[in-house]
Order: sequence, then structure tokens, then C-alpha cells
Amino acid sequence: MPLPNKVNKPFFIQKLQWLVDPIGYMESAVKQYPDIFTGEIIGFGGTMVFVNHPQAIQEILTNDRKKFTAPGEDNKILEPLLGNYSIIMLNGEPHKRRRQLLIPPFHGERMQAYGQSICKIAEQVLSQITINTPFVAHKVTQEISLEVILQTVFGLYEGERFQKIKQLLRNMLDVFRSPLSSSFLLYPFLRQDLGAWSPWGKFLRQRQEIDDLLYAEISERRSSKQSEQSVDIFSLLMQARDENGNAMTDEELRDELLTLLFVGHETTATAMAWGLYWSHHLPEVQEKLLQEINSLGNSPNPMDIFRLPYLSAFCNETLRIHPVAMLTFTRLVQEPVELLGKPLEPGTRVAGCIYLVHHREDLYPNSNEFRPERFLERQYSQYEFMPFGGGARRCIGDALAVFEMKLVMATILSRYEMKLVAGNEKPQRRGVTLAPANGVKMIITGQRVSQKQPAVV
Ligand code: HEM
Repeated sequence: MPLPNKVNKPFFIQKLQWLVDPIGYMESAVKQYPDIFTGEIIGFGGTMVFVNHPQAIQEILTNDRKKFTAPGEDNKILEPLLGNYSIIMLNGEPHKRRRQLLIPPFHGERMQAYGQSICKIAEQVLSQITINTPFVAHKVTQEISLEVILQTVFGLYEGERFQKIKQLLRNMLDVFRSPLSSSFLLYPFLRQDLGAWSPWGKFLRQRQEIDDLLYAEISERRSSKQSEQSVDIFSLLMQARDENGNAMTDEELRDELLTLLFVGHETTATAMAWGLYWSHHLPEVQEKLLQEINSLGNSPNPMDIFRLPYLSAFCNETLRIHPVAMLTFTRLVQEPVELLGKPLEPGTRVAGCIYLVHHREDLYPNSNEFRPERFLERQYSQYEFMPFGGGARRCIGDALAVFEMKLVMATILSRYEMKLVAGNEKPQRRGVTLAPANGVKMIITGQRVSQKQPAVV
């Protein structure tokens, strides 16, 4: 049975464009075939049906464990980084059980407890920046989100190992800076260890160093009683037992910790870098944000910041216009189905195209215009606004990411006067995400003195 609406370009051109200019690729394909098309891309088995009609996305994500599955094997692209035991690689029941284990620590009261630390971390990181000296905002937000994740997930605050892990993670993330240096993720044949200077060789050595440190931390925690009292996610995972009473192995723990670090850190940092860009690119937006934040008075509670309507709309618009993840993970058709009247055979790979959903003119008129008011004027369904995907693999860190984004934006905006150094920022592939191409260059021009400052209560 033929696949629907095949993009009319040679497959190698499609693959190349998907690698170097994914937005151009999606935008030209959707002009030819709105709602649904079949593309030839890299990774994920090569051929993929891109879906951007909310009704079809709903059909996929609400049948995610029946007519469709969310196969872990398709995420093999991330295996060199995250290993085989990460939640992202698991399927079926083991995947469901791992989610049950991981979701609670990321929600509810536990999350609220992180609020004050997040604000403090933002203040500390910003206070290191010299006034009137250009800096790259993406690096600053990476620093913030790395500290946040190390504290919440790892329960690590200080010490030599903490510093070393932090530095190694920073170095490793640099590998994903350009499409070229991260291309070994997409092309397994590029995985050649040609010494410490070759991209793959460098990656392997850094990964080994991180593994050594993580296994040392695991072994130390196993031999001490500390983990039984601790509430960080690492400790909770160590205490968890499956139905046969077995604990997670060292390898499983290592893979899960690295997964949470990587997927949680880089994504949130990118979203916050875009947030700093938009709030300084559009002075009228910044003005409204400041007015709202200042209306909370001198020492607002993090939960009050979290509930601010314009700030919420601003964060949504930031995640809409350049969604950090362009696609959901792949879903695999299990039985003959129809999507928008197009029959699909078992074995077909489909993905919700988050970028294209967020740029549908019927949902978001003038979709390239940044306008937070959209989210105040209208309620979008979870299949119309979906920066965190949905269904069986919906992001488990969504609440933490949005909480962090709001608190960091409020802390920075209310304390510092800053401006953009360069002009317009364009999105560019960074590994499997979409990030600001130049990292958002800024300078701090001064501190806001008379402020009612948010955060530390
Ligand atoms: C702005 C920040 C973030 C964005 C845009 C984002 C986006 C996403 C998306 C699109 C998915 C795939 C959903 C699907 O296929 O339907 C996902 C999955 C996931 N995310 Fe996030 N994420 C963010 C932050 C985080 C954080 C902070 C964490 C944890 C610390 C996290 C952990 C995960 C995990 C573990 C999965 C895989 C879930 C599974 O396989 O069941 N993410 N995320």
C-alpha cells in the first residue's frame, strides 16, 4: 500500500535538507501537502509520516498503546548517549512501569520545593556576569538548568565530583553545538574512533569519564545509608523495587540518570534562551512582563510567579514559535488504520510534527509573529499546543521545565537590565533539538535597583 503524500524530492536531498535545514524542509513539504506527508529523513528508520493535523494527532496519541505503539528501538539514535536501559529505549510494560516510577517526583509538592532553589541558582549564575561585557545567553541558561537538574535529579550540591560531572557534561554538550559535530548521532558509519581529536573519539572518552564518576557515585550511595532519607530522584530510583523485589542495576541507574540530565537540561536551557531573546527583542512584551511581575510586591512566592497569566502566555508562546523538539518520538502503526482518510499499514512510522502544528495558520494566524496574547484570547487543546508531545511518551519533565522557565525569567527580568547585542536570532538544529543559531548574544547594562524582587522568600 503506498504511503500518503510522498515528498516530491530525491531522498538524498531530503535527508540532507532535514539535517542542515529542518525547518525549510518541513515548510516546503507542508506547502505541497498540508496536514500529512511522508518524508525521507535520517534516523527513525528513514521513512516517516509527518502529521500536523490536530485531529490526526489526537487519534495517534490516544491510541498510543493499541493501534499504535511508541517503540523504544526507534530512539536508537540516542543510544550512544543514553545507553540501552533508558526510559526512552524501553517498550510496553517495562516502559509503563518506569514512567510510574519517574513521574511522581517531577510533580506536586515535591516540585514546589524546588522553587526557591531555582530562583537562587538563577541569581548566582547571573551575578557572575560582568556588566557591559557581551555574553551568550544560551550558555548562561545551560549553566542554570544544569545546576537545577543536578540538584533536583541527583541531589548533588557541591564537592569535587559534582564539579567534575558538571564540567564533563558541559564539554559533552558542546559536541552537539553544530549539525556537523553531532552528525555521528544521525549517521552510525561516522562512529570511528580516530583518536581524542576526532568527534567520535572525543565523545567516547568524555562518556567514559562521566560513566566512571556516575558509577562511583552509585557505589558510594549503595554503601551508605544516605539514600534512604534523601528525596532527590536519584535516591528514589535507588530505593525502587520491581514486582520481584529487584532493585535497578548500576547500568540501569546510570542510563536513567544520564537520560534525565540530557533531555531535561538541554531542552529547558534552550527554551529559556529563546525566552530571553523574545523578552528583549520586543520591548512592549518585556514591559508587560515586568509590570505583572512587579505587581506581586517585594518577595513573591515562587508559586505566585508560576500563576501569573501573562508570564504563562509568554512561556507558551516561546515554546510554540520555536518548539525545542520538532517532532514527537516515533509511533509505529500496529493494525491497518486510517489517518485523515489515508490508509496506513502496520509497520508504518508516524510522528506528530510539533513544529508544523505550532505554525498552522488556522490555529495561529501570522504564526511567525510572537504574540503571547494568543494564549490569553483562546484555549488550545493538547493536540494544538504540544511542546511536550503527548500520549504514552509525553514528557515527564514538563511541569519542572515550565516552572523553571517562569521562575528564571521572572528573576532575571526583575533584577537586570539587559539588551541584545546582535540582531535577529534564527533557529538551527542542535542535535535533535532546535536552538537559537547564535546562542542569543546579550549584555547586562545595569541592575534594577528599586525592585520588588521575586524569588527568595
Ligand atoms: C522545555 C523543555 C522540554 C521540552 C520542550 C521537552 C519535550 C519533550 C518531548 C516533545 C518529548 C516526547 C514526547 C512524545 O513523544 O510524545 C519528551 C519526552 C521526554 N522528556 Fe521532555 N522536554 C523538556 C524538558 C524535560 C525535562 C526537564 C525532563 C526531565 C528532567 C524531561 C524528560 C523527558 C523524558 C524522560 C522523556 C521520555 C518519556 C518516555 O519515553 O516515556 N524533559 N520531552
